[in-house]
Amino acid sequence: MRIAVFSDVHSNLEALSAFIEHSMTRNIHRYVCLGDIVGYGANPNQCIRLLQSIPDIFFVLGNHDNAAGSEIVAMNGDAGRAILWTKRRLTLQNTGFLKGMSENISLENLFFCHANPSGKSDWYYIAEKAYISRTFFRSRAKILFAGHTHAAAVITRKNFFCVYIRKPENGAVVPVASLNRQIFNCGSIGQPRDGDPRASYIIYDSEKSVVEFHRVEYDHKRAANKILAAGLPGLLADRLLTGS
Ligand SMILES: [Fe+2]
Repeated sequence: MRIAVFSDVHSNLEALSAFIEHSMTRNIHRYVCLGDIVGYGANPNQCIRLLQSIPDIFFVLGNHDNAAGSEIVAMNGDAGRAILWTKRRLTLQNTGFLKGMSENISLENLFFCHANPSGKSDWYYIAEKAYISRTFFRSRAKILFAGHTHAAAVITRKNFFCVYIRKPENGAVVPVASLNRQIFNCGSIGQPRDGDPRASYIIYDSEKSVVEFHRVEYDHKRAANKILAAGLPGLLADRLLTGS
């Protein structure tokens, strides 16, 4: 089976459309969306509708989806302003859809989450070593998939004291470790922050036992202009142009 894993669409319809078109030619059997469908960008309802049109897709809740579906917005700065903007525009049906998303998904030896296995109770980033260790402790799955950092990565646990972190390039095909446990971060579709503005996603191929890393070009100038035209904070448009 080939599973396309992606995250952090952040209401960016141009990036989402480009990713779907790219993945459709790559023999995908199932899609898993790791959350943060909304927030930051100008097209929350359109992105939800487009994602719902994908036949075999699973959804995991992100922190921005959670905030957009909550009464009180516990977010500050540009993120908080964008969530308030989003809440005013989401249809009742789409707000209900966000509220109903799972906190995480387990499939045999695979675990899918937005930020980490803690779900709503703690949206910490799997980046520093202490948090990487905490993550391997909280989930027993052989392979864990996450987003949230907006930066693609492979983290391999060598032993209790040693982890190895790799930042894969576009087109990298990373073998799944036969014995060691791993975390694969798929990066972000709609707001990459690893210096490459192209949409980022991965494909897990269970038969070949590899993870492919893909970057997809899209019209990020158009998406940025929509953010400005919507009256959302200008910094959110700038980030799409630089990928940082
Ligand atoms: Fe997030």
